[in-house]
Amino acid sequence: MSELSVNHLLGIKYITEADIQLIFETADHFKEVINRSIKKVPSLRDITIANLFFENSTRTRLSFELAEKRLSADVINFSAASSSVKKGETLIDTVNNILSMKVDMVVMRHPNPGAGVFLAKHVNASIVNAGDGVHEHPTQALLDCYSIREKLGDVAGKKVVIVGDILHSRVALSNIFALQKLGAEVKVCGPKTLLPKYIENIGVKTEGSLRSALEWCDVANMLRVQNERMDISYFPTTREYTQQFGVSKALLDSLDKEIVVMHPGPINRGVEITSDVADSKQAIILDQVQNGVAVRMAVLYLLASKIKHNED
Ligand code: CP
Repeated sequence: MSELSVNHLLGIKYITEADIQLIFETADHFKEVINRSIKKVPSLRDITIANLFFENSTRTRLSFELAEKRLSADVINFSAASSSVKKGETLIDTVNNILSMKVDMVVMRHPNPGAGVFLAKHVNASIVNAGDGVHEHPTQALLDCYSIREKLGDVAGKKVVIVGDILHSRVALSNIFALQKLGAEVKVCGPKTLLPKYIENIGVKTEGSLRSALEWCDVANMLRVQNERMDISYFPTTREYTQQFGVSKALLDSLDKEIVVMHPGPINRGVEITSDVADSKQAIILDQVQNGVAVRMAVLYLLASKIKHNED
């Protein structure tokens, strides 16, 4: 397969295993490119990309911008806080105004689940979802699975536990879809109040004990508690949460094997993960960030190829 089955990347739900493998093979090439002394290629020289961020971001925004610049795309950046959205402009009007400046692709982070799907139906551009509320964060899942493949050789057959606030996590849902498509076994672990009711219906087992989950898995993906998405208390205190669901070096050292520890960031050190774990060799957190650039270059390159193909 040499092209994606989709014209947009709206969620892992909408792509195939073959799409993911094509993205990984393309990312392998770009990873080699960004380790050269000249890190730039002319692949997207005639493409203009708008990065629209209606929610805060550090890693995703900078990673997309760097990926676009490494591919020689023209880039414009928009953040809701300093835009005319504050004056009441709708999403479609905002995006159509930007597109009238001859923009080809839109990378969008938005607080509303489904915002990317909605936009793809109403505007004439290729849309990349950079996180839509509690729904999906597809490039995060792709870079997470790519990092597992890099560290362990393959994703198929691996046991991965996702720990923490699953209920409010777009990273969890996209990871579950991607890991399952690639043949991994997935469990989730966290307070019952933070595990969605539908989770077993999508083939994911739950585990209440962090020690049992860590004894079972090859990889633990530790998630942040998303206080900004909570309007009620889901557990008694942060101290109790950390005692039950925080991973420490002492806990990892007490296991009879060495597991891989991941985190999508931003980290709350001392809450879901201690500093000595975050900074240990078992943690591949900064590898995930580094791989994010190559994976996003691959996604943008493959979607741009479809734009060019459709124009021919
Ligand atoms: N992992 C992630 O999405 O981080 P940011 O919110 O900083 O983009």
